[in-house]
Amino acid sequence: MNTIQRNRWVIVTAPTDRGADPRDQVLGALRVLRDRHPDTVFVTAVLGGSGTSVTTALDEAVAAGAAEVVVVSAQTVLDRKMDAWFRRVIGHWLRERGPDAPDVRLAGPLSDTDTYVDLLDAAISGPTAPARTTTAPLTSPAWDEVPGFARHVLVCRGPRCSARGGPEAAQALDSALEARGLGDDDVLVTQTGCLFPCSQAPVVAVYPDNSWYAELCADRVERFVDEHLVEGRPITEWSGARRSSVTLEA
Ligand code: FES
Repeated sequence: MNTIQRNRWVIVTAPTDRGADPRDQVLGALRVLRDRHPDTVFVTAVLGGSGTSVTTALDEAVAAGAAEVVVVSAQTVLDRKMDAWFRRVIGHWLRERGPDAPDVRLAGPLSDTDTYVDLLDAAISGPTAPARTTTAPLTSPAWDEVPGFARHVLVCRGPRCSARGGPEAAQALDSALEARGLGDDDVLVTQTGCLFPCSQAPVVAVYPDNSWYAELCADRVERFVDEHLVEGRPITEWSGARRSSVTLEA
């Protein structure tokens, strides 16, 4: 029997320029590509925000025995800052992984001018649909009030934290709160973009306590939840180094 060796992986990072949750768009494209390239494993990942991070996807490719991994940034509008971080995150992963890393390659940007023209042309030449007034409204009775939470926890899912343990910390936090029966009206967790002290990744901030945690990795989350969020005692030994705060004039 002729077994297909699927040792080539393609990781497509969801674009940030195509709506709040563009992974559905990417997933639709990947369904077609899987038919065209049955010898390749296609997965999606995010550079920041919720979802499988690029570094987690790279780890999964290694665990599956991939010999070659192609990473594609699905940005369709050129964003030089995003492109630079895309390269830095993958470079960081390669350094951490060391000599057993597979051959990781970066695909050319979709935002290349020539390709972008083709993308636009395909969009306006394909089927279009009328805009409607019957779509769901932007308000709902369920969203009338600010939740009554005691603490607001900001979990950084910027690109650096997402590459250095942020997704695992966020997942561990969800599980720990659920295990203790704490919901949004107790502790509201919000995943954010970059909070700035990227070198201290993964970064978590807690308000109204004005507490900032550095390197709050998944293995620290249980203690963080018990001591700070349940007992109200911030763990000061895990505080991130911070510039002195500025006092705003009234
Ligand atoms: S990416 Fe988390 S602080 Fe910058």
